[in-house]
Amino acid sequence: MNEIKIFSPATIANISCGFDVLGCCLEAIGDEMIIKKSNTKGIQITKIIGEDLPLETDKNVAGVAALTLLAHLNFEIDFGFEIEIYKNIKPGSGIGSSAASAAGAVFALNELLNKPFSKTELVAFACEGERLACGSPIADNVAPAIFGGFTLVKSTQPLKIIELPTLDGLYTTIIHPQIEIRTADARAVLPTKIDLDAAVKQWANVGSLIHALHTNDHELFADSLTDFIVEPHRSKLIPDFDLVKQSALKAGALGCGISGSGPSIFTFSKTLQDAENVSNSIRKIYSKNNIPFHIYISEINTKGIKIKI
Ligand code: HSE
Repeated sequence: MNEIKIFSPATIANISCGFDVLGCCLEAIGDEMIIKKSNTKGIQITKIIGEDLPLETDKNVAGVAALTLLAHLNFEIDFGFEIEIYKNIKPGSGIGSSAASAAGAVFALNELLNKPFSKTELVAFACEGERLACGSPIADNVAPAIFGGFTLVKSTQPLKIIELPTLDGLYTTIIHPQIEIRTADARAVLPTKIDLDAAVKQWANVGSLIHALHTNDHELFADSLTDFIVEPHRSKLIPDFDLVKQSALKAGALGCGISGSGPSIFTFSKTLQDAENVSNSIRKIYSKNNIPFHIYISEINTKGIKIKI
């Protein structure tokens, strides 16, 4: 195989209670990438459509992730790769734009090299793209992009990813206000020390959310989707966050929170009809302010990155 075309999905990181450790993969939103073997050694980003992002390999998250993978082969292959990126996920949206590019690049290279690396190793390489994007090699978006479904980053040193089951019939409705919040800025507003009472409630929620996924318990899942630590600080950065949350829950959402570092807001619903009702209710709220927005409805993608040809 000399060429591969892939769909690299958007992801929701944190999922309310699991700051930097929980994430899930989306079906309906994602980038496309075409990666080709080339006679020129190394990595070249030959095309980026849809967003104004750097073509220089060492300034591009896909380029840096791909170079990290090649470094683990000691660059001992006598060909290189060309990467084309067709961006649909806006950078700074909170639904894993940089993760999709970084994860897509290393997934595709691994396929073209006959899979020398495990999924966990690919997550580690893609994390170097995340380091370039936001200053930290955070795995909570790249892990679900590569593994699919829900994932838990059990540890980063050494990197351990746990694949979690998903709930039957789960849909997400996501509103993306068209403002950019850089992950580094959204991390800068967080406290460096946290209250013990809040921490106790938070880790109880992480445990119960994981139990809910294993037991297909929608009620317990809903009851676990509260963030006592991060959301109170970040929600102020997102216009009408509280109104959106109230109206989504009233319209039947199982839960609502900040997707990754924002500004996107995610909700989960038990049925497509509920997801559409939630979409209509939050559309009404956002139609009253002057901020343009997109709303997406998606199922959970249990496969992760998909090969298109
Ligand atoms: N967990 C990260 C954050 C999301 O909330 O800052 C980006 O990976």
